Amino acid sequence: MVIDNGLEGWLRYSALPAVFSNTQRRYSSIIVLNKDETSPVYTAGKELQDGLKRILGQHVDIDFVLTGSPTSIVVGTLGAFSSAGGDTQDIPALKEDGFWLQTDAANDCVHIIGQNERGAIYGAFEYLMRLAQGNFTPVASANNPSASIRWVNQWDNLDGSIERGYAGPSIFFKDGEVVKDMTRISQFARLLSSIRINAVVINNVNANPKLFSETNLNGLRRIADAMRPWGVRIGISLYFDSPKEFGGLPTSDPLDPAVNDWWKKITAKVYENVHDLVGYTIKANSEGQPGPLTYKRTLADGANMFARALKPHGDGVVMYRAFVYNHHLDESVWKHDRANAAVDFFKDLDGFFEDNVIVQIKWGPIDFQVREPPSPLLANLRKTKAAIEFQVAQEYLGQQSHFVYMAPLWREILDYDMRIDGKDSHIRDIVSGERLGWSRSGYTAVLNIGSDTTWIGNHLSMSNMYAYGRIAWDPLSDPVSMIQDWARLTFGLHKIIVDTITKISMESWPTYENYSGNLGIQTLCDIIYTHYGPSPGSQDGNGWGQWTRANAHSIGMDRTVATGSGNSGQYPPEIAAMYENIETTPDNLLLWFHHVPYTHRLKSGKTVIQHFYDAHYEGATNAQSFLVEWAKLKGLIDDHRFDHVAFKLEYQAGHALVWRDSVNYFYFAKCGIPDEKNRVGNHQWRIQAQDMQLSGYKVVSVTPVEAASQGKAIITKTNDAPGIAQKELSCLSGTYDIAVNYYDHLGGRSKYEIFLGEKLIGAWTGDLEDKLGHDFSEFLDGHSATRITFRGIKVENGDLLKIIGQPDGSELAPLDYVSVLPKGAID
Ligand code: GCU
Repeated sequence: MVIDNGLEGWLRYSALPAVFSNTQRRYSSIIVLNKDETSPVYTAGKELQDGLKRILGQHVDIDFVLTGSPTSIVVGTLGAFSSAGGDTQDIPALKEDGFWLQTDAANDCVHIIGQNERGAIYGAFEYLMRLAQGNFTPVASANNPSASIRWVNQWDNLDGSIERGYAGPSIFFKDGEVVKDMTRISQFARLLSSIRINAVVINNVNANPKLFSETNLNGLRRIADAMRPWGVRIGISLYFDSPKEFGGLPTSDPLDPAVNDWWKKITAKVYENVHDLVGYTIKANSEGQPGPLTYKRTLADGANMFARALKPHGDGVVMYRAFVYNHHLDESVWKHDRANAAVDFFKDLDGFFEDNVIVQIKWGPIDFQVREPPSPLLANLRKTKAAIEFQVAQEYLGQQSHFVYMAPLWREILDYDMRIDGKDSHIRDIVSGERLGWSRSGYTAVLNIGSDTTWIGNHLSMSNMYAYGRIAWDPLSDPVSMIQDWARLTFGLHKIIVDTITKISMESWPTYENYSGNLGIQTLCDIIYTHYGPSPGSQDGNGWGQWTRANAHSIGMDRTVATGSGNSGQYPPEIAAMYENIETTPDNLLLWFHHVPYTHRLKSGKTVIQHFYDAHYEGATNAQSFLVEWAKLKGLIDDHRFDHVAFKLEYQAGHALVWRDSVNYFYFAKCGIPDEKNRVGNHQWRIQAQDMQLSGYKVVSVTPVEAASQGKAIITKTNDAPGIAQKELSCLSGTYDIAVNYYDHLGGRSKYEIFLGEKLIGAWTGDLEDKLGHDFSEFLDGHSATRITFRGIKVENGDLLKIIGQPDGSELAPLDYVSVLPKGAID
């Protein structure tokens, strides 16, 4: 089998299996209605030629003249088709970027007619992706987008790093400048085009004004030129204080004429390089960024300054982010609530923005958590247009070292009915512009691909990029059929492949929610440091406002109007009433809206604390099954991608147990209410490292305490001599899985060997930082806690289990515990 490194994503165009040979078409030519090599129509022609060769093994010539041949594929714009004498009678009205796809089963005639050039290339990809799945069903359909804004955001820095990027360095920037080689940029544009994304904002929202240097402006030109043939436009993020810090002005006050003038001039320069710039993204007065409030002006004053600078140059928009909040909130004030910030800041400005300003709203009120209600701001703007912001990068959902397929989450948000004015107001219809009559609105998502050949850090997580594009085009896209299409295109048509990937994907979000944070308490990761592993204590006691208000008796944010922060009152009346009342608040958002005792009974009949315990056990158990499911694909897909995913799922299975135990220990310690099933704190198969016979090792306390079994771990006494931990096993002789929980952190690559008696049963290196892309920590904590398992080991009662740890640098071969697990036991 050919090695597949993932670079082509879902556009692999694998040869169709022989079973499809009877249905194969014979095309006489591809008629391309544009000869300009930089036009998306021309690119579409080339893509069709390449795709037919690879999928069907047919070489088809390209022609530029419409002949009326009954066996050709015609691709072009509606305008070009009709000027060339094509019959447009059957073609229904098409929206901007839309396309008409018609195939005639009898005579092998295919028409791919775009409303514009982008529409034509989208249609070409659609046709190829049908063929690649062996779908030869005749079709005659007009395909129109739900919204005109279908963007992605990259959080790339000029130095080549990517904020919250988990797949290697930037493909756009290196050492302060735009890269020279445009190959990956063009490949990226191809993927984006195939999922009908029409623009990418290429730099971090925490922006650097040096993007405006002459070299970088020229670089922007090169990027835009590389992406344009695929119908993808570029936009940039701006640093609000650029006039002061880059332009040498004394202020960046948005009402200062010199500042406005500066933005107009620099905008003109940008357009000299990128004549079709799609617009600006602005993060201002957020997380330490300067903004209009810094100069005592309104957010609208700031947004409008950019909007006016863009206007003379075309249709560019300002995507002004609603992610504005005070990150020094005082938790001791019961009414303080970060979730209120977006509405507090933006509601009264509704209607005060220029018509080319779009307010970009994160889907939830806080920050891409595993579960949130939709942002109330989505129901509070009437005249000012909005776009919803999703996050494909799984920042709070396991950073691609855990796999979470997010299409079901996005669908849940888009299907949500906000009941504005008591009428149907599904979020999909708000952001499409239909519900409130907006002319321009839509979607964006933080994507953060990097130069890794998997693009995103995990082959499975690419399904999120694919699904995002399809949902932004059609928010009614079904998560199951999207993952099935994606699996067929990415891995192959075999039913076992499609069913297995679908099963894992559809279970992935509930599984992750179960072992991370339940009942609307948010992802209980470390919010101060890496946003990755468990650290429930980090939510509270700081100004960031991702609070849980957990104490010894009760937990949750009181967001009611009656006794809490009033957040429920920011929603339209029917929704507000639902969340105000604890009886009508769904269990999965209970702790988002209410502060309750741990003994509060849910609608399920369980108490809150028992639900926490059970959900964590259920989630962590299910995470073990993904690996077993995936094993079915051995030999059905290439070994390279099989092994890559198997490695990630194995890691995830181990880390899910770390999550389970950390969160359960934390709340057990807090409230003292035992698990009804007596699992929490009881681990019959475990040998704690501190209970082993140690030489060269010493016992240390771990912080946070719940990140270690019984709060303790062992590390070597020095960093230049090995440590030995051993223990005589007392168990029935038989076959066991032996799992070792250790810590793999930055600072070194320790080496370990594990023996039973004199027999070496395994060896490994603490080098996950070279193999996994998530943010690593330097400490023994919930991020670095990890597990390795040796399966099917024959054990005799009385065998001596021995681990030798060789420290390296500041990583002192840390060990937490060993589990000797009989068949079927998970712990
Ligand atoms: C999150 C994320 C930051 C990012 C911010 C934003 O807080 O952790 O890295 O800058 O969102 O969306 O602006």
